[in-house]
Amino acid sequence: MLNKIDRNKIKVAEEAVRYIKNGMTVGLGSGSTIDWMLKKLGESVNEGLDIKGIPTSYKTEKLAREYGIPLTDSSNVIEIDLAIDGADEIDEQLNLLKGGGGSLVREKIVDSVAKELIIIADESKLVPALGDFLLPVEVVQFGWELTAHHISQLNCVPYLRKKDNNEIFITDNDNYILDCSFEKIPQPTRLHEKLKLMTGVVETGLFVGMVDRVIIGSDNGIRTHVNEF
Ligand code: A5P
Repeated sequence: MLNKIDRNKIKVAEEAVRYIKNGMTVGLGSGSTIDWMLKKLGESVNEGLDIKGIPTSYKTEKLAREYGIPLTDSSNVIEIDLAIDGADEIDEQLNLLKGGGGSLVREKIVDSVAKELIIIADESKLVPALGDFLLPVEVVQFGWELTAHHISQLNCVPYLRKKDNNEIFITDNDNYILDCSFEKIPQPTRLHEKLKLMTGVVETGLFVGMVDRVIIGSDNGIRTHVNEF
């Protein structure tokens, strides 16, 4: 039995697939909302839609293969027509906090070069300001404690991400993730820039000024926010 949130995720997943046209190279994001999108996209492919997907995580790659979606990788393409991804938080300027699933680096690489980026989410992801969700920061394994100490000087508490069995979570890029608790993130660009300047930091989960369109699902249906850059 599907819960309310899943039903809303399915609505936006189906709407997003309508933007995928024949011949496109499509960035395939990660997360549970994207999993629903892959299911729908697989159906469209089986009905004749001719596209190539670029997955942003091993999990997405595996599921896309199961659904019969043809895949390619960054060594074979110079352009990505459209990327569709999820988010953990979306603020009023359509900036995002991402990385809850640990795929932020590959997501950002693909999402940032796509000609169009569409984010799909249920309405619980809309927030007045980013920061209630812990900010994921991917760091190299070597010296992670020193990097964590450096990050904590930005007035946050960084927690090393662990799996349910208490083993350290390792990303698809063989790095660690520090989930950082900030009071609020009123200036995401500034915070992102400060973090990126720190040696040991690979990438942050702040996706600022990247989104073209956000499709939100609620009990009343779907609504689309278009970014006026
Ligand atoms: C993965 O690393 C994240 O950036 C996801 O896009 C984000 O966590 C959204 O996931 P859900 O669709 O599962 O909420």
